[in-house]
Amino acid sequence: MSVISSSLRKEYTQSKLMETDLEPNPFDQFHKWFNDAVSAELPLPNAMTLATVKQDQTPVARVVLLKELDQRGFVFYTNYQSAKAEELEYQNKASLVFWWISQERQVRIEGFTEKVTESESEAYFATRPRESQLSAWASDQSKPVSGRPELETKMTEMRSNFSDQSVPKPKEWGGYRLIPSFFEFWQGREDRLHDRICYLMDSDQWKIQRLSP
Ligand SMILES: Cc1cc2nc3c(=O)[nH]c(=O)nc-3n(C[C@H](O)[C@H](O)[C@H](O)COP(=O)(O)O)c2cc1C
Repeated sequence: MSVISSSLRKEYTQSKLMETDLEPNPFDQFHKWFNDAVSAELPLPNAMTLATVKQDQTPVARVVLLKELDQRGFVFYTNYQSAKAEELEYQNKASLVFWWISQERQVRIEGFTEKVTESESEAYFATRPRESQLSAWASDQSKPVSGRPELETKMTEMRSNFSDQSVPKPKEWGGYRLIPSFFEFWQGREDRLHDRICYLMDSDQWKIQRLSP
């Protein structure tokens, strides 16, 4: 059995998270940290792990991209016939995790999801590059495929189906908004004595609580 090298061990020394620095609203705190990740030119600061639950209770996680954020919640786009959509249909509670390596920061979010409106999905779909729009038509997300050639052939077909016209949003493609009831902001600190500060929605108010690392 191989052991992951102890040379990978590192100290976290970049920053700290103190109660005096916190925004009272976790969305504002998230924006602050997100802007730091963007300013640091981190690749894909909007990449987030989305965890859902299968009907047999198996937890499932994968990365999706945050595309919109307002005071309601975190929006990502996907295929409404994908495995994740089936899981969200069964159980609309879900979690998100962001890891911003250069700041040594993690944000965990829990909440419930709902579909965004068709017009929101259409408006976002219209901003996507044409080839991404075509691949939304070509890909039956999460379904088995005989091989790469089948996908390439479908893509060629879609290019020809929609030649000389704009590509409409497929009916089964759209967004979900995760509406949070819990946030945890984790800042790596020296000697593994990290800062962990949570915001919990309680009687329509965000309650702030520090947790042991
Ligand atoms: C960096 C990155 C970004 C991704 N962004 C999305 C996304 O925004 N929407 C999406 O449906 N899949 C995205 N994926 C692919 C998903 O991780 C996943 O493979 C796909 O959605 C199928 O998941 P499912 O079978 O659990 O539904 C992304 C993957 C990576 C690595």
